[in-house]
Amino acid sequence: MSSPAVAFARQNQPRFLSELKALLRIPSISTLPEHKADCRRAAEMLSAELKRIGMENVRILETEGHPLVYADWLQATATPTVLCYGHYDVQPTDPLEEWLSPPFEPEERNGNLYARGAVDDKGQVWAQVKALESLLAEQGKLPINVRVLFEGEEEVGGEGIAKYVASKPPELKADFALVSDTELFAPGLPTLCVGLRGMIYTEIEVRGAKTDLHSGMYGGAAPNPFMALAQILARLKDENGHILIPGFYDDIIPPSPEELSAWRNLPFDEEHYRITEVGSKQLVGEEGYSVLERTWARPTLEVHGMPGGFIGAGAKTVIPAKAVAKVSMRLVPGMTPQKAFEQYSSFVKKIAPAGVDMEVRLIHSGDPCLIRVDNPYIKAATRALHEVWGRETVFIRSGGSIPIVGDFWRHLGLPSVMMGFGLPDDNIHAPNEKFNIRNFELGIESLIRFLEETAR
Ligand code: BES
Ligand code: MN
Ligand code: MN
Repeated sequence: MSSPAVAFARQNQPRFLSELKALLRIPSISTLPEHKADCRRAAEMLSAELKRIGMENVRILETEGHPLVYADWLQATATPTVLCYGHYDVQPTDPLEEWLSPPFEPEERNGNLYARGAVDDKGQVWAQVKALESLLAEQGKLPINVRVLFEGEEEVGGEGIAKYVASKPPELKADFALVSDTELFAPGLPTLCVGLRGMIYTEIEVRGAKTDLHSGMYGGAAPNPFMALAQILARLKDENGHILIPGFYDDIIPPSPEELSAWRNLPFDEEHYRITEVGSKQLVGEEGYSVLERTWARPTLEVHGMPGGFIGAGAKTVIPAKAVAKVSMRLVPGMTPQKAFEQYSSFVKKIAPAGVDMEVRLIHSGDPCLIRVDNPYIKAATRALHEVWGRETVFIRSGGSIPIVGDFWRHLGLPSVMMGFGLPDDNIHAPNEKFNIRNFELGIESLIRFLEETAR
């Protein structure tokens, strides 16, 4: 490999890693109000670094929530413009007692860097910044025009960036987006993600009595909102994982036979997945669909938590006045958040038991997406990945959601190249999140070579 920028990255790797640790020490948890200032600190660290490496027009863009970070470098002539995307916000850390080292004190163990946000997504954001630094330092210029847009609300639905993108600002004029927020299908296997599920995240709030009541005095006569919720939830999905909301599956566009057969050739061992990744005694889901189809190409419905009532130690005999369930659905191509939410909320209201009032709220939503692979950027990506990893790229989908990818396409006409370097067992959103340090290094090299290849 003769790229001087790659050589620069290799020489500076120890520094890159220790800088990443500094970013990881900032607890930028977007969903918790007490970490608002930390989110801004992460944005400021990124904008300072973008300035330092020679990016231009570096700005912090305010939103109603956490700020965006923008930068560009547009001095290349007659070449495409890339929009680099990632997010600096992270998920909460609970359950804290299961972490082997504190989530915001990054620690190296067995070739991995452990910290909340290590791979989702600060490590991958930093890989983008370090790829740009290597190119600028070694060449004094970039091979193509580059815009950078980092957000701090991805994990909470991305409202700020969605509004900004929908306003189609001239700052976002580009030819394609480079999204580093996904994973390799298996260690050492270069991977491009070409499809994501969409989602609707909702809350059902049920109210019964006007206040909490003694369950002995009133039990039998007063409605119990938790029982009502349990009855509703039990009617949303059957034992086979089939969602019972009328019309929910009507508009689904199934994967093509070619895509399905490519998935059958991926190195996937269901039993290994069950034991090492899920760790349950059995997998569940819709009959007639493989695990990859169930998680990539079928909608699902999950309950995340049911706040309310008595959850302290010991016993309290109470009929709570209100109960809440946090429920989300993942959507696949063909489905829209608007229609899915309408079908869901009208069904929930219809099956509500007697004696309770109920409100169904949409917290946030995002469209599913499917990227066409017949564009020059995907081809450049496979050339670059082949050079760095020595293997042919596999094309996969992911069951997760990155709402802005659909918006990039709809509002800006940008196809996304989703080139990410996580691993399936990186514990994202869970205790002991990690980033394989070799993947961080090869990720930077892949991004450098990709940008160089798109200039050819
Ligand atoms: N990076 C993930 C999405 C992802 C996970 C892509 C695994 C590919 C493989 C992203 O940060 C994420 O967690 N998204 C949320 C989005 C939601 C809050 C709108 C998700 O999928 O739950
Ligand atoms: Mn992410
Ligand atoms: Mn995430």
